[in-house]
Amino acid sequence: MRYLTFALAKGRLANKSMELFEKIGIPCEEMKDKTSRKLIFTNEELGVRFFLAKANDVPTYVEYGAADVGIVGKDTLLEEGRKLYEVLDLNMGRCRMCVCGPESARERLKHHELIRVATKYPAIAKDYFYNKKHQTVEIIKLNGSIELAPIVGLSEVIVDIVETGSTLRENGLTVLEEVCPLSARMVVNQVSMKMEHERITKIIQDLRALIQQEA
Ligand code: PRP
Repeated sequence: MRYLTFALAKGRLANKSMELFEKIGIPCEEMKDKTSRKLIFTNEELGVRFFLAKANDVPTYVEYGAADVGIVGKDTLLEEGRKLYEVLDLNMGRCRMCVCGPESARERLKHHELIRVATKYPAIAKDYFYNKKHQTVEIIKLNGSIELAPIVGLSEVIVDIVETGSTLRENGLTVLEEVCPLSARMVVNQVSMKMEHERITKIIQDLRALIQQEA
């Protein structure tokens, strides 16, 4: 039996995903050893293996078939725009992609003024402003702590993830517009979907049933 390989976005999402896999009978004991420096974890009995990757790299591994299946946020999928099948909403990591800023930026945004938008998600921001709103903006790519940008005057607004809203509140910022809802998704390589149809379909069905049961 060929190994079925899973790429998981590092962090909270990976831990939650492993809980789901364990519940549908695909545990990976090797992965629970937090002291291990191993990069890939195998369950020989089931012919599956898991590895952790930076979220942005998960769609790349899946598109090229280095992983058959990936678990990653919809934000990353939209930003990376890779060719793969998105097969399941895992109903976890729910949050929103939003345009945020100080209340004072609301009018400038509304009147389509040429504003600067700081974001970790330039492709999502570009699609939103250019294709959906037909608004010309200047997009500035940042790599983290995006909320800083309007505070120190780098940009008028930001496009970023809002989960509880506490980062915004604590920094005097607010949601100005909603771009789209987000959550964790399961994605599948397009060739794997055909070659390993039975195994992958079974996993999708089991996960879907579990998610509905837990909802
Ligand atoms: C994310 C996001 C916001 C924050 C939103 O940042 O970019 O900053 O979480 O969460 P909240 O609405 O619950 O406050 P993350 O902590 O992932 O790090 P980053 O700022 O370096 O991107």
